[in-house]
Amino acid sequence: MPSAQNVMVKTRLDDPIPPTIEWLGDSVRLIDQRLLPTEVVLVEAHRVSELCELIRSMAIRGAPALGAAGAMGIALAVVRGEDISEAGRDLISTRPTAVNLAWGVERASSAADPVREAVLIAEGDVEANRRLGAHGAGLIPHQGRVLTHCNAGALACVGYGTALGVIRAAAEAGRNPSVWVDETRPLLQGARLTAWELSQLEIPCTLIADVAAGSLMAAGLVDVVVVGADRIAANGDVANKIGTYPLAVLAARHGIPFVVAAPCSTIDRDTATGSAIPVEHRDPVEVSEVAGTAIAPAGVSAHNPAFDVTPAELIGAYVTETGVWEERPPI
Ligand code: MRU
Repeated sequence: MPSAQNVMVKTRLDDPIPPTIEWLGDSVRLIDQRLLPTEVVLVEAHRVSELCELIRSMAIRGAPALGAAGAMGIALAVVRGEDISEAGRDLISTRPTAVNLAWGVERASSAADPVREAVLIAEGDVEANRRLGAHGAGLIPHQGRVLTHCNAGALACVGYGTALGVIRAAAEAGRNPSVWVDETRPLLQGARLTAWELSQLEIPCTLIADVAAGSLMAAGLVDVVVVGADRIAANGDVANKIGTYPLAVLAARHGIPFVVAAPCSTIDRDTATGSAIPVEHRDPVEVSEVAGTAIAPAGVSAHNPAFDVTPAELIGAYVTETGVWEERPPI
């Protein structure tokens, strides 16, 4: 739930999707993704500590959105007179896997004008995603049935989306894609966020339990899998939402193309392979409860890695704002 210290502005559910995150001059406003799809609520952070809590509790999530949040956190530190180095450390420590967060913090921290840099990063995100989408649209066959996992849409970025950006660009190009949306346990980003976004965009989608993907592929009902990424190692291994790796294995088994869509800010040249990517482990309660209701006996232990690593050999193509890369991402 949103923390009481944050100012909230309610908008109508039938409004178009507002930007995921915005710089307001002396504060940061973002969509509180914890409340979707039931309510669209905007929440403001006035201090770095408030923004850190919003990131930790996943009011804002998704690698490119975290990049913009990291940069805006540094902008907040500047206008509030907070220590920039300490702010950077606090922001980066909130979520370890998505490299975009550290990228945004470092870019803003080293800029002559961190506030301007944060705004440029946010603007650049939407432009990059549109280019990425245009490059990737050709990978979606006409009437293609696309399977996606988690949420790599506008809500995971400042706007437009990466994996959903590819699907959206294919729809805009008249390819009439339809989408199988993995629910994405434990936090249901697919059911709550991706299904909501696709509904707003009027792109046909069908929600499935994560465990249904294999049988859909075996039945010939999936033409291509498109997912986002939280970090791409120098050798092309990809960390993304837990459950991505089994999808890649299944896709290979069934000869289905497996596509990763991510901006260049997600590529980590300093991490040689996927085994060196830090995987965030979150509160086990996220596994033992659904929407606050216990689904397991009290006291049972639960294990909650938030991401897994897909080896490069299972990835058919990387789509970035610079093009489609089949062998390796552009390092
Ligand atoms: O834990 P989350 O919701 O931040 O995880 C998000 C994902 O895994 C996305 O697929 C990834 O960040 C790419 S978003 C364009």
